[in-house]
Amino acid sequence: MADRPYTLLSCCVSIDGYIGSAGSRLLLSNEADFDRVDAVRASCDAILVGAATVRADNPRLLVRSQARRDERAARGLPPSPAKVTVTRRGDLDARADFFRVGDVEKIVYCARPLVPDARRRLGPVATVVDGGASVEMRTIVSDLAARGVERLMVEGGGAVHTQFLSEDLVDELQLVVAPIFVGDSHAPRFVRDGLFPWNASRRAELVEVRQLGDVVLLRYALSSRFEDA
Ligand SMILES: NC(=O)c1ccc[n+]([C@@H]2O[C@H](COP(=O)([O-])OP(=O)(O)OC[C@H]3O[C@@H](n4cnc5c(N)ncnc54)[C@H](OP(=O)(O)O)[C@@H]3O)[C@@H](O)[C@H]2O)c1
Repeated sequence: MADRPYTLLSCCVSIDGYIGSAGSRLLLSNEADFDRVDAVRASCDAILVGAATVRADNPRLLVRSQARRDERAARGLPPSPAKVTVTRRGDLDARADFFRVGDVEKIVYCARPLVPDARRRLGPVATVVDGGASVEMRTIVSDLAARGVERLMVEGGGAVHTQFLSEDLVDELQLVVAPIFVGDSHAPRFVRDGLFPWNASRRAELVEVRQLGDVVLLRYALSSRFEDA
């Protein structure tokens, strides 16, 4: 068993590198790309998002297509991947769609001090895992591997992307560029400040460019484990 799942980071950015707006939810991508993302979700065992994304977007994180859900069921899998989130403060609402919808496993990695509180509130709707004094993404991925997750999709937001990328835990990046500007420095960006393994002297490997209507998908191989599916 690998010590961490094959990890694919999927994100849609504006032309100026933002992944949302400062106040309300912003839909950046288009239907063709949402369908592509749905197929990627269907191919994974778990989807991970940061707690701020759960609070800001109230995402369902389910496979939308009935055909894809049926295909998973035929393979003996739950209709959608497990949902995973991470929190320091434990400030998550058990009524959020992350917890409420979908007959799939929900896992919350929580920093140790808030675990008792999180278990009290979220225990009935999720598995709350003690992530240690300060939760490391590396700890999460090895724990997910031990739980049988072989393919993990990371879907935001910027704080989570930054840690996965700077800690070199991503095998594949799927970056979609939407044809809009956000133009507000208070809005969330694809990544925050960090030391990333790819820079002017070590460039990431671009493996595919695909146009889907008015957006473009850029696929990068970020590790030797990259699978050209
Ligand atoms: N365009 C896209 O594809 C896309 C996709 C997803 C999200 N988004 C956008 O991204 C924005 C949110 O991004 P964000 O950067 O603000 O936040 P985020 O990455 O979604 O979540 C950050 C939160 O996750 C928890 N967290 C992160 N690292 C942790 C660690 N090491 N240990 C414990 N907890 C940790 C903390 O939760 P607590 O605060 O609970 O402690 C932290 O505040 C939203 O506006 C959303 O719309 C866009």
